[in-house]
Amino acid sequence: MRRPLIAGNWKMYKTVPEAVSLAREVAAGAGSAAGEVDVLVAPPFTALHAVKEALGGSAVALGAQDMHWESEGAFTGAVSPVMLRDAGCSHVILGHSERRQLFGETDESVARKAAAALAQALTPILCVGETLAERESGRTMEVVERQVERALRALSPDQVAGLVIAYEPVWAIGTGRTATPAQAQELHSFIRKRVATSHGEPAAGAARILYGGSVKPDNIRSLMAEPDIDGALVGGASLGTASFLKIVRYPAA
Ligand code: PGA
Repeated sequence: MRRPLIAGNWKMYKTVPEAVSLAREVAAGAGSAAGEVDVLVAPPFTALHAVKEALGGSAVALGAQDMHWESEGAFTGAVSPVMLRDAGCSHVILGHSERRQLFGETDESVARKAAAALAQALTPILCVGETLAERESGRTMEVVERQVERALRALSPDQVAGLVIAYEPVWAIGTGRTATPAQAQELHSFIRKRVATSHGEPAAGAARILYGGSVKPDNIRSLMAEPDIDGALVGGASLGTASFLKIVRYPAA
């Protein structure tokens, strides 16, 4: 059985004091859900260390939103996997569609970053998903298959088993337009079968596949009812304590 994971992607929001206060509230409120779901928050780089301290001994995990693949060097503006470990991260989001669309992230750089993250014992949360134009031209499966294949190509079955993949249709991110549970399940099942073909059934059965794109308190339960949806990567609704905790506590709702 795969344990559900609810991850909050704070994107470029929250000053350090704001991040610390949200993290404290999430840590305090997530306690009751901790028996059933894993919870993670991914603040901006500037708040990582302070949020780690604010999370204290709680079960809430810390993730970053991107990284460079090198451990150190002359890479102005970049942050390395070693630095993320040092700041207290256990996870790192890689290949988010905003990185791909706005910052030139490619399948190749995502693959290099995934290998580098694993080498530092950081769990990648690997994001894939099609744009609206790709969906409307019937290329959804082709695009997602390419993204998954290239990111996982160099990884071993054991590494893939520990991976988190996030299926995030670009047209559903920040738009209020969630994929229907059936649409999401179709892609999650497709991704899992694709991973089974390349890395074997045990790895595909163990890897968690999150859905992302306008996940809210009122749609989380129906999404989580699908057999291949193992959690959510939540943007907007992770920025407020009440909405994020409602999502985290979906099993009790
Ligand atoms: P959203 O963002 O929940 O605001 O749609 C999801 C994401 O980008 O990970």
